[in-house]
Amino acid sequence: MSKTLIRGAKVLGGEAQDVLIDGETIAQVGTGLEAGDATVVEAEGKILLPGLVDLHTHLREPGREDSETVLTGTRAAASGGYTAVFAMANTFPVADTAGVVEQVWRLGQESGYCDVQPIGAVTVGLEGKQLAELGAMHDSAAGVKVFSDDGKCVDDAVIMRRALEYVKAFGGVVAQHAQEPRLTEGAQMNEGVVSAELGLGGWPAVAEESIIARDVLLAEHVGSRVHICHLSTAGSVEIVRWAKSRGIDVTAEVTPHHLLLTDELVRSYNPVYKVNPPLRTEKDVMALREALADGTIDIVATDHAPHPHEDKDCEWAAAAMGMVGLETALSVVQQTMVETGLLDWAGVAERMSYAPAVIGRLEGHGRPVAAGEPANLTLVDAAYRGQVDPAGFASRSRNTPYQGRELPGRVTHTFLRGRATVVDGKLA
Ligand code: DOR
Ligand code: ZN
Ligand code: ZN
Repeated sequence: MSKTLIRGAKVLGGEAQDVLIDGETIAQVGTGLEAGDATVVEAEGKILLPGLVDLHTHLREPGREDSETVLTGTRAAASGGYTAVFAMANTFPVADTAGVVEQVWRLGQESGYCDVQPIGAVTVGLEGKQLAELGAMHDSAAGVKVFSDDGKCVDDAVIMRRALEYVKAFGGVVAQHAQEPRLTEGAQMNEGVVSAELGLGGWPAVAEESIIARDVLLAEHVGSRVHICHLSTAGSVEIVRWAKSRGIDVTAEVTPHHLLLTDELVRSYNPVYKVNPPLRTEKDVMALREALADGTIDIVATDHAPHPHEDKDCEWAAAAMGMVGLETALSVVQQTMVETGLLDWAGVAERMSYAPAVIGRLEGHGRPVAAGEPANLTLVDAAYRGQVDPAGFASRSRNTPYQGRELPGRVTHTFLRGRATVVDGKLA
């Protein structure tokens, strides 16, 4: 059994401690621990976090291996400090049967870089018409507990109600991509001042907010649990805050890009900024940061959405929606939440590791940095400053909005059950 001693890291940003990993487990946390035959990682000044968990990743396999595979996506995840990711169901074929979710689950097991928990589709083929085999996906080897038609909204209220009722039986959750389809027909960007000036089809905030309002009420009505993907507007925050104050079982996520970027960037017509939901306004960004800080928004999820260059390097209207995010997420959160004083590192651990594992009912991840726990850990050099260079990404795709931007922080080591997947900032 191999041993590793991480020496002198600030655990969750607090006191400097030594952490001894023995095999797959954290054996000891303390000061002045003896290295013995352990490999020593000198971590003075660095921050030690529990391995990050992403509730919202697009791994693209099966079917779009030109943009990402389970292997390249999990390598990107490990580089970004993640030890587990939930894989969205909008693959080809769609992950709407036990067979497909088991295939993704098996590929994840083989990858070795990060655990993969498949998400099952809510409806057959993401068509929104007929419930998929939720029970069979749950009973499969993949043990699916999170269901989502992400990329598309479950817009039929009766289907949404049935899905919520169904998952209740096994403590599952429906993760909604809140986008009223009729209100967003032909939409190209956020509806507002900038869209009016550019003459691009607008995507009104109400298209997101109306679905969230409906779904929290449906969740209350049937006594089930709903999760809202990628909140992007100040109004969405208000609705979730209201729902939580009523005791409705709702959780919500925000992406790193919605914490940092605004629709002003669309003036460049550079499709790296094209994403669903769209980048909104400064006021929305500030409301999202505040909501993440006060717990109205539970977690940060990347919505890592790789696309090949031919789908992004084209005119705005033709470009695919989405941006890669796994390898920059923690840096963006450091800049927008930690360096602004809105969150400390313990708060980051809560929102990027503990809470996502709880929402997704994922065992073995999102655990405290303590003796006896699985050694899923991320070591961060928060003092690092550097420009984002997509050429160095482990992801197969390069569609980042941060190329050339200076972002703080760098993951130097990631440990998956005691095994280093990243060493000195490089994949092991
Ligand atoms: O920007 C997005 N890209 N939003 C989604 O909901 C889907 C995703 C994708 O699959 O590319
Ligand atoms: Zn989505
Ligand atoms: Zn998504």
